[in-house]
Amino acid sequence: MTSRRVLITGAGQGVGRGLASAFADSGAEVLVNDLHLERCQQVADEIRAAGGTAVPTPFDVCDYESVVAAVTEHGPVDVLVNNAGNAGADGFGNRAKFADTAPADWEPFLRVNLYGVLHCTRAVLPAMITNTWGRILTIVSDAGRTGDPGGAVYGASKAAAAGLTRSVALENGRFNITANNISLGTMRTPMTEPLWADPANSPQTKEILRNYAIRRPGVPEDITELALLLAGEHGSWITGQTICVNGGYSFGL
Ligand SMILES: NC(=O)c1ccc[n+]([C@@H]2O[C@H](COP(=O)([O-])OP(=O)(O)OC[C@H]3O[C@@H](n4cnc5c(N)ncnc54)[C@H](O)[C@@H]3O)[C@@H](O)[C@H]2O)c1
Repeated sequence: MTSRRVLITGAGQGVGRGLASAFADSGAEVLVNDLHLERCQQVADEIRAAGGTAVPTPFDVCDYESVVAAVTEHGPVDVLVNNAGNAGADGFGNRAKFADTAPADWEPFLRVNLYGVLHCTRAVLPAMITNTWGRILTIVSDAGRTGDPGGAVYGASKAAAAGLTRSVALENGRFNITANNISLGTMRTPMTEPLWADPANSPQTKEILRNYAIRRPGVPEDITELALLLAGEHGSWITGQTICVNGGYSFGL
């Protein structure tokens, strides 16, 4: 990744933070985005302390003008990782059945998980086309592939983002731009930490993991090598795909 500029959204913690470290370790300049400035700074400081190159790049992916301003300020992005996500306050959506939700409940999921991906992808694509090289990775969820009772709108927002990837791949392959989705199963990150940390939830977590061939939640390190492959030269003929990193929760046939 040496000489590559990589923008990772939502990199202040969890999966994005793990990806930021991995890309920096492989030589990239990492634009560490998050909604929270202090998280961006902390992750960028950690990367720099380890000898890497990182720039705190705070913005809200929901705000297109801010996204464009950041991309303009920092220069062309070679690799975009659409990672920022919203799964609801407790990390698993509000678990309300769709029939019991109202339009106001849907907004936060669509704004971050779909519009955020639209904004960032749209903002970086022109320079990738000009440079005739680019990589776009979008972190989606098996909730969008298999359905998720209690997480219908979260799943729908992720499925929509995954759909965008396929069109972007088709439209831009001739410019050596690839676009792929990484579909995750249940992870242990700050998003879901309350679930895993409280022993009172043990029956619930056991029940969740019974659906996994490999009976543990994922961790950010489970994803990093795949992300580096897709973002690098060896991934140049992999595009438009949704690759599952999910402990065998579901299978892509
Ligand atoms: N944790 C899981 O079990 C799981 C499962 C499947 C998919 N995913 C997806 O993986 C990705 C990473 O999840 P995670 O568990 O690391 O999440 P997390 O909540 O621990 O971290 C997400 C980060 O994104 C940032 N963020 C949220 N909204 C933002 C916005 N509007 N603009 C910029 N930054 C914003 C948050 O501040 C946070 O630092 C998400 O897209 C999530 O939907 C997670």
